[in-house]
Amino acid sequence: MDVRAVGGDIAAQEVDAVVVNLFQGVKSPGGGTGAVDKALDGAISGLIADGEIKGKKGELTLIHTLGKITPKRVLVVGLGKQDSLNLETVGNAAAEAARYLRGKGVKRAASIVHGAGTGGLDAGAAAQAMTEGSLLGLYTFKQLKSSSSDDDSGLEELLLVEREADKLPALEEGVRVGSILAEAAALARTLSNEPANRMTPTRLAEVAGEVARDARLDITVFDEDKCREMGMNAYLGVAQGSNEPPKFIILSHKGDPDNPENNLGIVGKGITFDSGGISLKPAANMGAMKGDMSGGSSAIGSMLAIGKLKPRINVTAIVAATENMPSGTATKPGDILTAMNGKTIEVDNTDAEGRVTLADAITYAKQIGLVRLIDIATLTGAIRTALGDLRVGLFANNQAWADQVLRASEAAGERMWQLPMDEEYKELNHSDWADVKNSGGPSAGSITAAHFIGVFAEDTPWVHLDIAGVARLTKNRGLYVTGHTGIPVRSLVRLALDLAK
Ligand code: BES
Ligand code: MN
Ligand code: ZN
Repeated sequence: MDVRAVGGDIAAQEVDAVVVNLFQGVKSPGGGTGAVDKALDGAISGLIADGEIKGKKGELTLIHTLGKITPKRVLVVGLGKQDSLNLETVGNAAAEAARYLRGKGVKRAASIVHGAGTGGLDAGAAAQAMTEGSLLGLYTFKQLKSSSSDDDSGLEELLLVEREADKLPALEEGVRVGSILAEAAALARTLSNEPANRMTPTRLAEVAGEVARDARLDITVFDEDKCREMGMNAYLGVAQGSNEPPKFIILSHKGDPDNPENNLGIVGKGITFDSGGISLKPAANMGAMKGDMSGGSSAIGSMLAIGKLKPRINVTAIVAATENMPSGTATKPGDILTAMNGKTIEVDNTDAEGRVTLADAITYAKQIGLVRLIDIATLTGAIRTALGDLRVGLFANNQAWADQVLRASEAAGERMWQLPMDEEYKELNHSDWADVKNSGGPSAGSITAAHFIGVFAEDTPWVHLDIAGVARLTKNRGLYVTGHTGIPVRSLVRLALDLAK
């Protein structure tokens, strides 16, 4: 679908349907909604008086215009209470509306920009949220089905209509940036939704190459021999059970080449399939482990947007891609691996593989001079127990850096929550035989996992995002659709843009 910003009167658009909105408790709407209400001889305010339209968040009401205005349908979207309106609500409202109209077979639609009028939001930011919301809300992953379904008939065009001409340039910029962010998040979703027989480490590296060409990034891929030469024996210890060759992927945007230390390192967990290895997972839902490279896909997706938006900062994404498989060559519980930085790791549980691969990815990031790091990983089932599928778990060794990431997350509407990293938790990773053990046992599993990575980050400012709870949803929610979410691509891109200011 194409999103465009246009000037003019919402009721006069030559489209199949127009979208207006309502805040909860408003009896006689103003702005664009008021104009449409007037053109329909009070149809909207009448339904409000009858109690059918309440303006509750997520409420959708379709009105047939019966020739009173050019568009045959008006969709009234509830935005909830005006004082709690934010960009996340705007994006979700746009997504719900777009999916609803697609379901009605609408091809061309026009919408007012939710929140840009009485809502008091910045018009450009609201247009960006609407663009991201409608594009991501319409996302599908159907390319592996041979017959197309109703969903594919498709909304083709969405016009964001603004009456005040001086706001139009801001809207246009919002649409431009929002389209890039939606494309980046959709790419991350697709990489994760692709099954593991197709999205192998080799294929992931190929796609990273395509992203590099598209967004003018530099790319380097280390094969197994190169990784061995570099001493990445923690990462290779995970890879050794699989027949699929590992690929260590490095993508970089040189946004400030004269100041190499003005940089950001994004490290994504890249397990293209996690069977658990010798510590094999149970059969139920193991298929979901095709998405265990969602941290890596968000890193690659973010780089697509960063390459296109060109912030003045050097950004490098690192994805140590491999499968985690059981076999005669697999690492066994009790094995001790020597990581790239010389530290030894006792593999207590081969299913705690993500942190072992991240150990070498983080060490590499430090060796190439990245001064602040953020890693993204579907790391622990325990984070879903703690935070469900709503918030990303955030861990950090540096509070200023954590706060900066939390601000970007807030602005992007991708919710995060910081968890504690008291030193005492670290003792759970104690090994009698090696420097550290890869599993801290059943207590505080997400925190001990974070501490394990922290051993390799050392004193480099580092944030760890555990996305295992939010990476995949089993039903539609606002701009997220069943399957992988692409979280936290929009936060990562925002972070790079914020740092470049
Ligand atoms: N990839 C899993 C974590 C995961 C679980 C992601 C559910 C998405 C949904 C990770 O590699 C894993 O297996 N973690 C173990 C760690 C344990 C063995 C210490 C876990 O969470 O059970
Ligand atoms: Mn695992
Ligand atoms: Zn895993």
